[in-house]
Amino acid sequence: MPPSDDPRLVVDNASLHYGALDVLADVSLTVQSREIVSIVGPSGCGKTTLLRCVGGLNQLNGGEIRIDGQRVEKPLPMVSMVFQHFGLFPWRNMWSNIAYGLMLRRTPKAEIARRVDAAIEMVGLKGFEKSYPHQLSGGMQQRAGLARALVMEPKLLLMDEPFSAIDAQTREQLQFELLRIWDRRPTAMMFVTHSIDEAVLMGDRVVVLAGRPAHVRALRRVDLPRPRERSVVTSPEFLNLREQVWHDLFGQPTDGETASRGRGVRSAAGRK
Ligand SMILES: Nc1ncnc2c1ncn2[C@@H]1O[C@H](COP(=O)(O)OP(=O)(O)O)[C@@H](O)[C@H]1O
Ligand SMILES: [Mg+2]
Repeated sequence: MPPSDDPRLVVDNASLHYGALDVLADVSLTVQSREIVSIVGPSGCGKTTLLRCVGGLNQLNGGEIRIDGQRVEKPLPMVSMVFQHFGLFPWRNMWSNIAYGLMLRRTPKAEIARRVDAAIEMVGLKGFEKSYPHQLSGGMQQRAGLARALVMEPKLLLMDEPFSAIDAQTREQLQFELLRIWDRRPTAMMFVTHSIDEAVLMGDRVVVLAGRPAHVRALRRVDLPRPRERSVVTSPEFLNLREQVWHDLFGQPTDGETASRGRGVRSAAGRK
């Protein structure tokens, strides 16, 4: 085991291109073992690609990703992912969708039952065990997606815009429920979103990705107290941070960025 102050996740100068299209350029970031790091960036900038690399589903062309010191080259069992479009099997009921990963691992039946029931309870889906995905609302399907990830007791949870396909009210409800679940058992989480508010609300730190190819334009620490209650979103600290991230995203690019793009050279990671 690494010492507890070693990051759980290290993304070290990650670069990736699809053919001629540069998508990630020297992206570096870390996530500690009890930390939520939000990744915010415009649509199409490469957030999903980055998350899929961390999940071992895409391979980098340069740099390295390590989880607890282990280089990621394929999906690792200690990592779970929650997708934007839920990704439930339509032919399995909710209970068996959530149990699926444990079944694949040949977990004993009694333990599967205990853990699946606990996860269903945690996300507030009790009573809907036998429902099929098409019988559930979007919000309920995403609760199931979340339970399916949590039941694996991952050391790293990867969330890819998990609430963006959900109506605004349910989305707000789910944000605070996820925060409560996390407070009960904090784990390392990479939370991808295109919403500035959501990035600040969820994160201990916010990584601002910008540009094509995506590079880290800014890194903001979120010193808002936990547990985070609804009232936090009207606090001056929250509003101030939201403003800063907005400027990180939409303000003028730094001279360095403009210069390096002009030369067609990838810019360095971690620039403020
Ligand atoms: N499998 C793929 N092959 C080719 N291009 C891709 C592939 N996946 C994504 N892209 C391109 O990479 C860029 C980043 O996509 P993505 O990571 O999905 O962005 P985001 O999640 O930030 O919206 C986009 O221009 C997209 O069209
Ligand atoms: Mg995406």
